[in-house]
Amino acid sequence: MSRSAPLRDSLKFLRLALRKPREIGAVLPSSRALGRAMAEAATRAQGRPVLELGPGTGAVTAAILKAGVVPRSLVAVERTEELLPELGRRFPGVQFIGGDAFKVGGLLQQAVPAWRGQFGAVISSLPLLNFPASLRDQLLEQLAEWMHPDATIVQFSYSLRRSQSFRGLEEVSSKVVWLNVPPARVSEFTLGRRPGSHPRRNGDTPPKH
Ligand SMILES: C[S@@+](CC[C@H](N)C(=O)[O-])C[C@H]1O[C@@H](n2cnc3c(N)ncnc32)[C@H](O)[C@@H]1O
Repeated sequence: MSRSAPLRDSLKFLRLALRKPREIGAVLPSSRALGRAMAEAATRAQGRPVLELGPGTGAVTAAILKAGVVPRSLVAVERTEELLPELGRRFPGVQFIGGDAFKVGGLLQQAVPAWRGQFGAVISSLPLLNFPASLRDQLLEQLAEWMHPDATIVQFSYSLRRSQSFRGLEEVSSKVVWLNVPPARVSEFTLGRRPGSHPRRNGDTPPKH
């Protein structure tokens, strides 16, 4: 008898988590409630492409598509190669890139060079707090090049204390999703002011040149 998809995903996830705990950073796939909370930011992407980091077994990917993002506008970077075939089968049209999100600039340059500066939302399930701050800084530097100035970044963590700050990001909202194992904090950020950049929010006057 074949196992149901959620059970199969959970078992696969647990197996991976036992093998690579630091990289997987969780023991079960994200719940629907966590997926929905993460995908909310995609509705603010205003038709711009969306970047997902660490799609895993696809719980957040499913929620992003359900929120109205069309598959061809979604690019996802996943390092665990054995997850990619199933992701490709489940979500036709989404572009899954096998590789290291900490090298996202080079990966996007190869896959979608015309989308530099265009991404309207970055939705990250990476276990960022398991990695050194210097790596996180490198990731943000690269993301800043690929994000539209109005874009948001969403990140979850299992640290329920309010809120982990990430250098160079400004938090705009943060909430706990209790319907997840374990409960998770979902935080949304915008790119803070960066040297040489001209960040702009909706409704602000564009910078004069
Ligand atoms: C917390 S799990 C994602 C859970 C996912 N939302 C789900 O429901 O399956 C984190 C994911 O990030 C991936 N990951 C970790 N480090 C990565 C990296 N440097 N580059 C790309 N993916 C990475 C892991 O392989 C894992 O699939």
